[in-house]
Amino acid sequence: LSAPLNAPRGTQDVLGEEAIARAALEQRARKLLESCGYERIETPAFEATELFARGVGESTDVVQKQMYSFQDGGGRSLTLRPEGTAPICRAYLEHGMSRRPQPVKLWYLSSFFRYERAQAGRYRQFWQVGAEAIGSDDPAVDAELILLLAELLDELAVSDSRLRISSLGTHATRAAYRERLTAHLRAHEQELSSDVRERIELNPLRAFDSDHAGTRAAMASAPKLLDALDDVDREHFAGVRTLLDDAGLAYDVDHTLVRGLDYYTRTVFEYESPALGAQRGVGGGGRYDGLIAQLGGPETPGCGWAAGVERLLLAGDAPPLAPPPVDLFIGYGDPARERAAFGLARDARRAGLNAQLELAGRSLKGQLKHADRLGAQILALLEDEGTAIRDMHSGEQVSVVDEAALAEILRRRR
Ligand code: HAM
Repeated sequence: LSAPLNAPRGTQDVLGEEAIARAALEQRARKLLESCGYERIETPAFEATELFARGVGESTDVVQKQMYSFQDGGGRSLTLRPEGTAPICRAYLEHGMSRRPQPVKLWYLSSFFRYERAQAGRYRQFWQVGAEAIGSDDPAVDAELILLLAELLDELAVSDSRLRISSLGTHATRAAYRERLTAHLRAHEQELSSDVRERIELNPLRAFDSDHAGTRAAMASAPKLLDALDDVDREHFAGVRTLLDDAGLAYDVDHTLVRGLDYYTRTVFEYESPALGAQRGVGGGGRYDGLIAQLGGPETPGCGWAAGVERLLLAGDAPPLAPPPVDLFIGYGDPARERAAFGLARDARRAGLNAQLELAGRSLKGQLKHADRLGAQILALLEDEGTAIRDMHSGEQVSVVDEAALAEILRRRR
């Protein structure tokens, strides 16, 4: 006999309490996001590889190392989505959403795929809840999104989270800044860690992320992107901060905040939770004013965030929502009553009750035990003389022959 198979590394089955907690998270996220006018969107689990190469950026770790790419039977190169923003911008273009009132506000809760070293809080298939607002560059969009994520963290009882924000300016500002930063790194090449040195051209901003002592020392005197912003971007960032200040939201401006995806312009932000250990990032995002043009559309601003569902649940402490009660359990002793039990369950469900019926041929005693285990409120036992109704709490038994009387009892139970 061959050994039983397990789920692939970095993936997980979601069941039991975990499934209940996720359902509660989804319910809370939906309520919050839909109350702010965000509409649910679902995009395919895989897309043309080129979408991520162009959208997320060739130089990013995500595109270079983490994509699950494959050729389908028709020879197309496809990739399991590593993130949601590029697919949603693709959908915005494909469905002509620029004709709608702007910004178009969309939210999602979907699974994503990245080939990463699996560890606590880091998976190869993970879920994100995310929000994107496309079509307006107003700083109020950024501020509203940042506050919305704060609200969600609050709702999920993720406490002690820290918010870092920064602005990356436009791609042009960043390109000019990159040159100056690259020159600075070249001038300090000897002090840098080897992986930073190797990536000077590819991704010099990453040097700010390094834990390497020499690199950190060299970065202390490096030019700062925040100092290089032009007036328009500086004003935009100030506009976002004013609204956050008005809302009383605490944050740190961190000029070293680097996000792992290339499409960001202007505002970037990240919430961290100390409860998460090494994988502290619970959610983050920013503005991506150049992404839609990058994908072949007209210049269209956008802003959004995504938060990891597993990390939200790890860091959060929200009480689970109670599972729906079982109003009625239908049992029977004589197998010939199965069809009647089946019909009664259907009627009860149509009347709005949560009903279950015996499905495993248990003995009457076993059925009683099972109904108790499910926490059923009432038990209906189909017998030859009629239907015996038992109140599972009081143990009181009322025999009812009449269907109308049974329906009445069920109604009163609601
Ligand atoms: P991201 O920072 O790559 O951004 O991912 C967002 C969140 O997803 C992270 O903060 C983390 O909680 C979770 N996450 C990422 N990778 C993993 C993993 N391997 N295992 C578990 N959780 C993970 C984005 O994906 C952008 N699309 C966010 C965005 C939306 N920016 C603008 N709009």
